[in-house]
Amino acid sequence: MNDLLKIENLYINFRTLWGVAKVLNGINLTIKEGEIFGLVGETGCGKSVTASTILRLLPSNAEVSGKVLFKGENLLEKSEEEMRKIRGKEISIIFQDPMTSLNPLFKIRDQMVDVITLHNNLSKEEAEKRAKDLLEKVGLPDPERVLNSYPHELSGGMRQRVMIAMALSSNPSLLIADEPTTALDVTIQKQILKLILELKETYGFSVLFITHDLGVVAELCDRVGVMYAGNIVEIAPTEELFENPLHPYTQGLLSVVPDPRYKKKLKPLRGSVPSLLNPPTGCRFHPRCDYAGDLCKKEKPELIEYSPDHFVACHLYGGNSE
Ligand SMILES: Nc1ncnc2c1ncn2[C@@H]1O[C@H](COP(=O)(O)OP(=O)(O)O)[C@@H](O)[C@H]1O
Ligand code: SF4
Ligand SMILES: [Mg+2]
Repeated sequence: MNDLLKIENLYINFRTLWGVAKVLNGINLTIKEGEIFGLVGETGCGKSVTASTILRLLPSNAEVSGKVLFKGENLLEKSEEEMRKIRGKEISIIFQDPMTSLNPLFKIRDQMVDVITLHNNLSKEEAEKRAKDLLEKVGLPDPERVLNSYPHELSGGMRQRVMIAMALSSNPSLLIADEPTTALDVTIQKQILKLILELKETYGFSVLFITHDLGVVAELCDRVGVMYAGNIVEIAPTEELFENPLHPYTQGLLSVVPDPRYKKKLKPLRGSVPSLLNPPTGCRFHPRCDYAGDLCKKEKPELIEYSPDHFVACHLYGGNSE
């Protein structure tokens, strides 16, 4: 499979009143064509900032360095005008709470027609027909009723389906889903995950699926990147990650997954997530790690391919600083 998105050595700092928050600390990851890549980590580790960087939607207090290559071109070097053509067309995003993206004052019909005509050269009537098709494709059997509704007249699950329909209206090659099911109850969550999987099979786009929930990752993703305090600490195919977690942080995360298969010999996490204003030196996980040695406090471990397609950033597995 070819690479669709390649993030190289991406650093993001935010200037704040309290100092500089070192939020992304040189991350590297690749999303291949047609795959679902899960980005998993606790709240505050930098998942949404990664998504905002890809779409170039960072606030003005952000300092950025590194590369975000999409189809081989560095998005960080694009003009705002060029980005507007990529955003919502080549790369779409859906969020946890569709109410933040839907305008409460307008019917779904107006909002969908707006989005569809923005990215496609269609008349209003053609756009409406397209909207109906899309709503049916995302499993809303009475599209006319949905089009006539205001956002608050729909359930949370229906609103998320509408958002997915809008995100797909331009036939994107990358769909970023930032915790899209976190606000939904478990049954609806499963339906939405199934829908994303089916649509991906039909349309062949890639998905960057952001979540703090390893259970969701296990159900949906082809490969997973584990994030900790602004670093990607491990990347592996999903099954491999669950069966053979290498990084002490991944092992800690998996120790709390309620599945007896994954509990073998895994130590639970202790301590808490560090402040990114003053992150730990070297390996940012060292204050919480039972294996931390002197080198861990001094040098940041680089992400290395420890075994085929299984990457880890931890001095226990070597790396270029040893
Ligand atoms: N505009 C901003 N200014 C300063 N700090 C920010 C800003 N946006 C995000 N952060 C900080 O960046 C870190 C990562 O945030 P985020 O990517 O939203 O985490 P999550 O993994 O939960 O999505 C957090 O510590 C957050 O406080
Ligand atoms: S680099 Fe050191 S501190 Fe970091 S996870 Fe590995 S052993 Fe632990
Ligand atoms: Mg987030």
